[in-house]
Amino acid sequence: NSKYCCDGNSWCISTICHKYDFFSVSVFKMSKVNVPELAISDENLRDYLSQGIKRTEEFLELESASPFNPLTEISQHLLLAGGKRIRPVLVFLAGQFGKPDIDRLAKVAAAIEFIHVATLYHDDVMDEAQIRRGVESANAKFGNTNAILAGDFLFSRASAIAAELGPHVVTALSDTLSVLCEGQIREARGAGNSDPIKHYLEVLKQKTGSLIETSASLGAYVSGADDVSSLALSNYAKNIGLAFQISDDILDLKGDSSKSGK
Ligand code: IPE
Ligand code: IPE
Ligand code: MG
Repeated sequence: NSKYCCDGNSWCISTICHKYDFFSVSVFKMSKVNVPELAISDENLRDYLSQGIKRTEEFLELESASPFNPLTEISQHLLLAGGKRIRPVLVFLAGQFGKPDIDRLAKVAAAIEFIHVATLYHDDVMDEAQIRRGVESANAKFGNTNAILAGDFLFSRASAIAAELGPHVVTALSDTLSVLCEGQIREARGAGNSDPIKHYLEVLKQKTGSLIETSASLGAYVSGADDVSSLALSNYAKNIGLAFQISDDILDLKGDSSKSGK
């Protein structure tokens, strides 16, 4: 799956985990059953992440199945087409700061990935994107109406999982989504008369940093990490999110679409 590999993101993971390069993520995100060996020198961490992502993939597939087959087909089109699974990985890494429970963390990771993918369905409609995750975008393949409704369906799946995890998770995710929407609207409206760099950074913080920050904070929360660690992880992930979107924007302008898959 090296076609999904984009160098601009490799630093993001490698700052968190030595030798954990982007390619490893892109390999193991594709594997629903057999998780291949990861390039992580710490065997325990490697097994923990492999197990966690494997469990997350199982939840994603199971929870996105609707009794109405066309809805399953459209919703799983992008969900299972790949993706770096950076947010789930952050959930599991943050979980290491408490007592990690794979099942609870996988539920958080799945809820966050559902929200992320739902925003991609909607974002691709807004941006009239043709390719996503190396395949035809949902709007290109099924039309805008279906893509929007599949995004809504994925939000509903995230809500169902969040409800199982309790009110704190529900509130954290809904607050995050509100901020993300604010960022998307802020971007669509443009900087106007305000400082363009300030506006740009605010947009990134909201539309991308918010969900990445919540990935770390909820991973810490469901594992019972202490407050100091949780706060440090949140701040760390917020900045990772900012840098992640800046590198993504540069890749959109300068990158190779066959590598970024979009
Ligand atoms: C794409 O996110 C949208 C941005 C916030 C830049 P990712 O780069 O995490 O997309 P996938 O999940 O790997 O497809
Ligand atoms: C992605 O934004 C959507 C969200 C962050 C919610 P972009 O439009 O900047 O990212 P790509 O280029 O489509 O992945
Ligand atoms: Mg876009």
